[in-house]
Amino acid sequence: MRYALPLALSLALIANAASAKPPADAAPPETTAEVKASRAAAQQFSATLKDALQQAMNSSGPVSGMTVCHDQAGQIADKLSQELGMLVGRTSLKVRNPQNAPDNWELAVLKQFEARKAQGEPVDKLEFSAIIPDDQGQRTFRYMKAIPTATLCLTCHGGSISAEVDAKLKELYPNDKARGFKEGDLRGAFTIAKPMP
Ligand code: HEC
Repeated sequence: MRYALPLALSLALIANAASAKPPADAAPPETTAEVKASRAAAQQFSATLKDALQQAMNSSGPVSGMTVCHDQAGQIADKLSQELGMLVGRTSLKVRNPQNAPDNWELAVLKQFEARKAQGEPVDKLEFSAIIPDDQGQRTFRYMKAIPTATLCLTCHGGSISAEVDAKLKELYPNDKARGFKEGDLRGAFTIAKPMP
């Protein structure tokens, strides 16, 4: 995930991630204020981005939609992070932008989501949260919510991508791994972090 808040905080979170216990050990605090705020933040991020994307694609096509994802996804995340006092981002097991690569905790949760999906849980219901202490006793609340692949997404994340979109993707993301998805696949997850008092 991208770290938009002050560096010290970001570093603390990275340190937390390194010492994170496997998610299965951590009891999810189901209905805490943090969980509710995180659900709302993920929902807001999702809706804002999808609106901008759909609008650009409808009016000027997929390459223009890509500009929204390229230029605005990060900006929207940064703005929300500042407004909400939580780090808000997106990550995936197969990232397009290497800045979105998962840390250890996120990686474990994404794998957990894939396992739960394989057990039959609907992708749009998958979420997980935990409070993770670091070596200095600082605790961080973390939350992730799965992002399903919809039809709209296949234009840029599917198995057969148009030559025009393909060329632009190669130009912007030489290490792109976010292709070959099918509708209903787990595309990735929203990821949220907040230091606890
Ligand atoms: C017009 C092309 C386009 C469409 C359509 C599109 N995306 Fe993306 N997507 C991108 C680009 C470009 C990035 C890289 C953004 C960045 O640089 O942070 C991206 C990044 C992502 C990421 C962040 C992780 C990563 O791979 O870097 C997720 C999650 C994601 N897209 C999900 C979706 C979903 C879900 C949909 C459908 C609702 C969708 N995308 C539709 C182009 C697109």
